[in-house]
Formats: sequence, structure tokens, C-alpha cells
Amino acid sequence: MSKYRIAWMPGDGIGVDVMEAARIALDKLGLDADYIHADIGWEFWCSEGEPLPQRTIDILKTCDCGLFGAITSRPKEEAALELAPELQDKGLVYSSPIVRLRQMFDLYTNLRPCKAYPGNPLNYRDDIDLVVFRENTEGLYSGVEFHPLPEGVFATLTQYNPKMSRFESVPAEDIAVSLRVITRNGAERIIRKAFEYAQQFDYPTVTLIEKPNVLRETSGLMMRVGRQVAKDFPDIDLWETNIDAQMMWLLKNPDDYGVLVTSNMFGDIVSDLAAQLVGGLGFAASGNIGDEFAVFEPTHGSAPKYEGQYKVNPHAMLLATKLMLEWLGETDMAEQLENAITAVVAEGKVRTYDMGGGNTTLEVAEAVAEKI
Ligand code: NAI
Ligand code: MG
Repeated sequence: MSKYRIAWMPGDGIGVDVMEAARIALDKLGLDADYIHADIGWEFWCSEGEPLPQRTIDILKTCDCGLFGAITSRPKEEAALELAPELQDKGLVYSSPIVRLRQMFDLYTNLRPCKAYPGNPLNYRDDIDLVVFRENTEGLYSGVEFHPLPEGVFATLTQYNPKMSRFESVPAEDIAVSLRVITRNGAERIIRKAFEYAQQFDYPTVTLIEKPNVLRETSGLMMRVGRQVAKDFPDIDLWETNIDAQMMWLLKNPDDYGVLVTSNMFGDIVSDLAAQLVGGLGFAASGNIGDEFAVFEPTHGSAPKYEGQYKVNPHAMLLATKLMLEWLGETDMAEQLENAITAVVAEGKVRTYDMGGGNTTLEVAEAVAEKI
């Protein structure tokens, strides 16, 4: 029996291409693992009405963690039209499998390291080393939204906040409301993870990014919890910043920052900005991490126009694989893989199109494997 069981979820489009690249690196590293293929993605929505089949959930429950490529998803109406004829008119509603995995397995940490590897022509600057911790399960993406706004909800909100009365004359179908949920536990566990990471990897600061001057209650709770958690890490400074100003500073002085932590929607935005500073989608990797289980993925989508062409950059997928190795405790292998990626980027001889090169996905993977 192998040491690890890893759920292998290529998904759609270039997800398949980049997962093949990951396998080349893993085989070269000699990770003692069984890779269990698990169905996920658009194909299964169309043929079965379920992009995340139960059999996949059953496999995930027997695995240590999952590695995921990418999926295609389309808006509600288009999704319904692509269902197999016998599934039409059954009232099936498409929902994103990756969002569901995060909620189902309580993968509350979205970890997004953004490091500028020297020699990458796409770097904004070469001295950037940011690690974004985005809360993954609540915040403004709680999934609780109203449209049209039910009368009872409007009445209750008005009862608790007289400011609602200025919307009194707006027809229910002309107003939509989202709910921003921050729980003490949700705030505490993500902020604690950020501090633990800063401690483990020697970052001197943790920057907590919110907007407490306006979002007094939700951001306010994040800030209060942040100060509480910071007391357990006396060697690490807590910097409290506002999301808007922080975006300017990240562009102006990215090297001032290390570990950043924030709620779900702010984290979505911060992590994409940070990723673009160090090469964009071809380099952006992420971990969706809970206490018992984790799924690692590049953050790019299925890029249908490049499907099966082996043209896209596998570095994002390889960096996701490195995060997985780190999480499994295989820190030597994680380091070997990162060193190999660093060397290939620095040499600049083997590059995909986005870096100005003409090499294929698998040629880049082979070059990385050669350095291992
Ligand atoms: P995308 O990330 O698939 O691609 C956008 C563009 O970025 C591509 O056309 C390509 O030019 C470039 N790109 C992406 N990955 C690259 C790589 N590894 N190397 C070099 N260039 C790369 O986003 P798009 O086109 O908005 O969405 C396509 C499909 O993917 C949609 O169905 C969308 O819903 C889905 N999607 C899935 C995600 C996931 O699986 N986590 C995330 C984002 C989008
Ligand atoms: Mg995003």
C-alpha cells in the first residue's frame, strides 16, 4: 500500500493538460502515492446533471487530499440548455463543484502564495513575496442573497435598522440584497492560520485587510479577533489596513508586505492582484485547506480555446503541487520541486507562450523534472 491516496481531478479543458504536467513532476520526485481518478466538471453536468457526482465525493472521503485541474462553468440559463435531452425540464440547477467542495469539506483557508521567481519576464518586480490567506466559506460569498426582496425580509431589516426605510418606495424586484456573514470562529481560524504560517516561514508581519471604518460590524469583528489572535504571536507584528488604500500600497511597495489575511470577497480581489504582480494565471496556485482535508489547484480556469493543445503554462499547476507536498509534510520534496521551478524560470530557455516562449506544457514539465 502506498503512503498517500490522492484524488486526481483533471476536470475540463486545460485542466487535463496541466495535470499531466503535475504527474511528470510527481513521478520524478517519487512520491509514494496512489492517484485515484475522480470525475468532475462540465461533461458530467451535461450527461448526468451533476458536475460533482456522488462517486467523486465518496472517493474524496477515502483520500488524504485532492489535486484539481480546472472546470468549465456557464451561467444558469446556458447550463440548463446544454443538459442531455432526458435531463431537460427536471429543474436541475448548476452549481460550481469547487465552491461546493470548499463548503462540503469546510476548506476554510484559501492559501495563495505569490512569489516573483527571478527571471520571469512577467514579474512586475523581482522582490515580491506575498502570501494571501483568504477566508473561503463565509463573508460576502455566504451564498445568502435576495432578489426580489421578500416583504418579510425588508420588514425585519427596517425593524432593526431605520436606514432601510429610504428604500421603502423601491419595488421588490428592483432591489437585491447580499448578506455579509462574519463569525468569530470563522475570523479566528483564518487569522490564526495566517499567523502560524508567518511563524513557520519567518515572515515578520501579518497584514489584516478590511474596511472597519465603513463595515463597522463585520470588518470590526475581524479586527477585534485579529488583535486577540496577535497576542499569541508576540514576535509577529499585526498591521491593520483598509482594503482600498492597501490596493494602492500593494502596487507601490509590494516588497513591504508578506502574509496578508482577509475575508472572502476582499481576498478574492487581493489574491488576483497579487497573482498578477508575479506572472498572472500561469503562476497562480492555491490551496483550499481545512483541518482534515485539502484540495490544491491552479487558480486559472479551463481556457477552452487551448484545450488539448498543451500550450498553457504548467507552473501554476506545479506550484499547486508544491503546496500539496508541503501540506502533506513532504517538505523536502516540496523544496526540490520549487527549486526546480525556480531554476527553469531563471534559465529562461523553456517557456510557454505567455512568457514569450514557444514550448509546450509538457516540455516545461520535463524541464522541471530534469532539474529535480
Ligand atoms: P481562464 O482562466 O480559463 O482563461 C483565461 C485566459 O487566461 C485564457 O484564455 C488564457 O489566455 C489565459 N490562461 C489561463 N490559464 C493559463 C495558463 N496556465 N497559462 C497561460 N495562459 C493561461 O478563464 P476564462 O476564460 O474566464 O474561463 C474559462 C472557463 O473556466 C469558464 O467556463 C470559467 O467558468 C471557468 N473557470 C474555472 C475556474 C476553476 O476551475 N477554478 C476558475 C476560473 C474560470
Ligand atoms: Mg477569483
